[in-house]
Amino acid sequence: MRLTQAQREQFDRDGYLFFPGLFTPAEARTLVAAVPALYARREAFNVREKDSDTVRTNFAAHLYSAPFARLARHPRMVQPVTELLDEEVYMHQFKINGKMAFEGDVWQWHQDYGTWLNDDLMPTERAMNVAVFLDDVNEYNGPLMFIPGSHRKGVVEARHDLTTTSYPLWTIDDGVIAKLVERAGGKEGGIVSPKGPAGSMIVFHSCLVHASSSNLSPWNRVSVYLSLCAVSNHIRRCKRPEYIAHRDFTPIACLPDDCLTKDYPVDLPWRDGMPASALATSSDPLAQIRMAA
Ligand code: SIN
Ligand code: MN
Repeated sequence: MRLTQAQREQFDRDGYLFFPGLFTPAEARTLVAAVPALYARREAFNVREKDSDTVRTNFAAHLYSAPFARLARHPRMVQPVTELLDEEVYMHQFKINGKMAFEGDVWQWHQDYGTWLNDDLMPTERAMNVAVFLDDVNEYNGPLMFIPGSHRKGVVEARHDLTTTSYPLWTIDDGVIAKLVERAGGKEGGIVSPKGPAGSMIVFHSCLVHASSSNLSPWNRVSVYLSLCAVSNHIRRCKRPEYIAHRDFTPIACLPDDCLTKDYPVDLPWRDGMPASALATSSDPLAQIRMAA
């Protein structure tokens, strides 16, 4: 999938690109079908919501689930990022966010690069997210919200929020958000939320400010996020466990475009469980706890 010049300009201006219905319903179904078994596992890689047993985020499924291992190598997800960064990419983070019906909690306003810089010592913002919807996303089930153009501010001041939700995040104060929204057009386009059918995809800049509210609707909003980082920009610290911030900087080799509907063989290194080394962490920037073989 080659991006057009107009798409590149749109990305530079707004900080994201939206591709409604990029994956077919049949492709989305192969992924949705695999989610309940992953969420049922009692493992550290399933982070549950603060006040319930519902899974908020499942991490690193591409290392132990064949459908998600194929998605992690899908050219429709990986190639636009390789093109925009003009470099090969590796998987920095892989997550399946539940935002389940009635239970899915908020994601506070943040930039992903804020966390990747502060926690993982990722040198620059040359990384980005690609999200694919596994359920239809509408205005009621907690769609992602973006402040268009906010990526051009670079890294904005953030605070480490350890209490609002079950997942620690570097979040941005309300006053800063109000100014960014005003600058982006206030009530006329200062916040946007791409909505569409299951299979829709969003590519967004690592400095784009985003959030989502809770899901009070009866509809799940499961989405998968690939955080892809330019290989030369790999993280320099392993302060977070490996299932959250990966330590294997090998460039992703894509599979053919039909890889969600054909059983191409994929390596599943954590098929029989997560290695103990994946839980080891260090605050020392120089420590290389485990570079994957
Ligand atoms: C994220 O910002 O990483 C997730 C937001 C969401 O799933 O709504
Ligand atoms: Mn985020």
